[in-house]
Amino acid sequence: MKIAVVGGGSTYTPELVDGFARLGPMVSELVLIDPARERLDVVGAFAARIFRRHGHPGRVTWTTDLDAGVTDADAAVIQLRVGGQAARISDETFPLDCGCVGQETTGAGGLGKALRTVPVVLDVAARIRARARPDAWIVDFTNPVGIVTRALLDEGHRAVGLCNVAIGFQRRFARMLEVDPAAVVLDHVGLNHLTWERAAYVDGVDRLPELLAAHLPELAEEVDLPAAVLSALGNVPSYYLSYFYAHDRHVRQARGVPTRGQRVAEIEATLMEMYRDPDLDEKPALLGERGGAYYSEAAVGLIAALAGRDPDGVHSVNVRNNGTLPFLPDRAVIEVSARAGRSGPVPLPVTPLAPDLAGLVAHVSGYEELALDAALRGGEHRVYRALLAHPLIGQHEDAEALTGKLLAAGAQHLARA
Ligand code: G6P
Ligand code: MN
Repeated sequence: MKIAVVGGGSTYTPELVDGFARLGPMVSELVLIDPARERLDVVGAFAARIFRRHGHPGRVTWTTDLDAGVTDADAAVIQLRVGGQAARISDETFPLDCGCVGQETTGAGGLGKALRTVPVVLDVAARIRARARPDAWIVDFTNPVGIVTRALLDEGHRAVGLCNVAIGFQRRFARMLEVDPAAVVLDHVGLNHLTWERAAYVDGVDRLPELLAAHLPELAEEVDLPAAVLSALGNVPSYYLSYFYAHDRHVRQARGVPTRGQRVAEIEATLMEMYRDPDLDEKPALLGERGGAYYSEAAVGLIAALAGRDPDGVHSVNVRNNGTLPFLPDRAVIEVSARAGRSGPVPLPVTPLAPDLAGLVAHVSGYEELALDAALRGGEHRVYRALLAHPLIGQHEDAEALTGKLLAAGAQHLARA
């Protein structure tokens, strides 16, 4: 298989390459594509060393030419960041002035990211479709994954959105239960970055109640919430739900301290220096300080399944709702556990959501639909309406102020109405 990675010059790429090197014998060529030539040369050469170290016979190549890179690809991973860390830092900062959380995928910052990202990803996807193999799948890691995946599906692409939150829980629960990770099947449900683990099945038995009883403080700390929240819910919300359940605390804590994007920029600079070392042929421990743990394993597992090589594996993916959550439109995109084959992912059956989960999912899904409309068609009033629809914003004064700030911060990237 030829796998193309769009955004392959990312400092994250060695994580992905490590996964393909260890677990991807089906890969004959891995091509990294990125417009940033200098970074790409460093990351590409390092990626080739990782393949060699693992004795992987596949070729690692790299190019700045998107069209050439995706030609005849069997699958394409899109993992790009329009505007780089500078745009992210802006997303993390401007909402704070209105007392709203600053985050790259949640709230007003997430909308800013969606507006500048959707048009770019759609352009990339069209070029993939023109040159890759006709049955090629697009695996999208580009945030905000739910909105971007919906944009791709609406344009008729063979696309699946992927995130590492679920696989992170699967690995953690497996360690706690001392079982093989593949033996843990999650009842993982919601929208991207708005999910709950409602059950963790091992051999058909839900072991989550046992995990909550034995490891409550550790699980609560992991998702940055008080134990009482997990107890009340009876499940494990993702870390991203702390921006909802602990919104005001996040705002207080974020004021006057460097943002995550600033920290990431520092880590990235150090990583790039490390990657230049011709003797380095393994991903360095510092990469573990990024949030992408196991994203390679999620990608390799899903790509193998979509190639028909793993009919039994369960993957948490972003797909069309199509009735899985009956209270949402069919065309909405949700994140759930699924089996996957050549014709795409098929969600496992989902039991009804409790009213608090269903309510929040419906609310944010409505926002996502409006956010996508704003990203595609532009226009200040569409941005305003999406902000008004977001449960973490909602009030017209905030929505109005944030519309102005968002447009000012991202002007150079935004679609024109
Ligand atoms: C997790 C999320 C990703 C996000 C990343 C941020 O992995 O699932 O969607 O991009 O965290 O990590 P960073 O190191 O960039 O803060
Ligand atoms: Mn994610």
